[in-house]
Amino acid sequence: MTTQRVLTGITTTGTPHLGNFVGAIRPAIAASKDPATESFLFLADYHALIKCQDPAQVRQSSKEIAATWLALGLDTERAVFYRQSDIPEITELTWILCCNAAKGLMNRAHAYKAAIQANEEAGEDPDFGVTMGLFSYPILMAADILMFGAHRVPVGRDQIQHVEMARDIAQRFNHHFAPLFTLPEAVVEDHVAVLQGLDGRKMSKSYQNTIPLFLPEKQLRKAINKIKTNLLEPGEPKDPDDSTVFQIWSAFASAEETARMRADFEEGIAWGEAKRQLFELVNATLAPARERYEALLSDPGHIESVLQRGAERARAFSVPLLAQVREAVGISAMR
Ligand code: TRP
Repeated sequence: MTTQRVLTGITTTGTPHLGNFVGAIRPAIAASKDPATESFLFLADYHALIKCQDPAQVRQSSKEIAATWLALGLDTERAVFYRQSDIPEITELTWILCCNAAKGLMNRAHAYKAAIQANEEAGEDPDFGVTMGLFSYPILMAADILMFGAHRVPVGRDQIQHVEMARDIAQRFNHHFAPLFTLPEAVVEDHVAVLQGLDGRKMSKSYQNTIPLFLPEKQLRKAINKIKTNLLEPGEPKDPDDSTVFQIWSAFASAEETARMRADFEEGIAWGEAKRQLFELVNATLAPARERYEALLSDPGHIESVLQRGAERARAFSVPLLAQVREAVGISAMR
């Protein structure tokens, strides 16, 4: 059987929310169980430094995100689960790739272009607040991907360009030096739901409309009660396809439960009742993982040992490949 190597990174900023769970974590954990794939999942903490210069926040977020994946049942004996900063070969490879990637390619990166454009609109110097980290972000990401010979990289739409850049960089290296890199492909999971947030827009930290994944029960109930609805009274038919309550419901419920709720909407279920049921469902789904999450957060030594074991497994791949890369570019012992 030929196995496909699937790799994805999670930038360690912020606290995971329901949208991350439905859109990324749950499908990645499911995919990691497929015997035809070999999953590499990692905490992209060097990527976090690009956005966040608060050390306490970087540390806290790394811990929360690691605990989240473990609590939700990622099998770290199957998947290789590690922290980017534990793999020094990645940063070494980043430099080598920096010396081969075209600056012109980086000029076209969306995140960088958006920063420049915002500065221009504000009448600032175009490079105001732009660090070399932000500019080089796609190269660090290319190193993440190429270091482990990933075939497929599941990402959100905003990241497709970065995977294509990794592919370009790999092609150029393979052509110029030695064919050491696998050409990666971005996979956008179209069938997974993009969850709506409290205000009905896409649930996203940048809109401040998220429901954190492991809120304590009471706060989860409160958050769900804040989901925006319209003014239709109990008994008045409601359009499920225009409702965030229904949308979140269907991301958690079975097909039958979803059909039943659709009928209830059409029959005029009260908003309060729909939200109460949504809370019950989400809470019941997440409660066991929430308990494991709390336990993990109070035992960081355990998280650390899981990550160290993951780093050891990851380095079994990265150390030999980097040795070949160094050799290929002419960095080697005197002989
Ligand atoms: N930049 C990605 C994001 O913000 C995270 C990431 C870092 C990543 N390295 C990666 C994703 C490698 C896929 C592959 O979502």
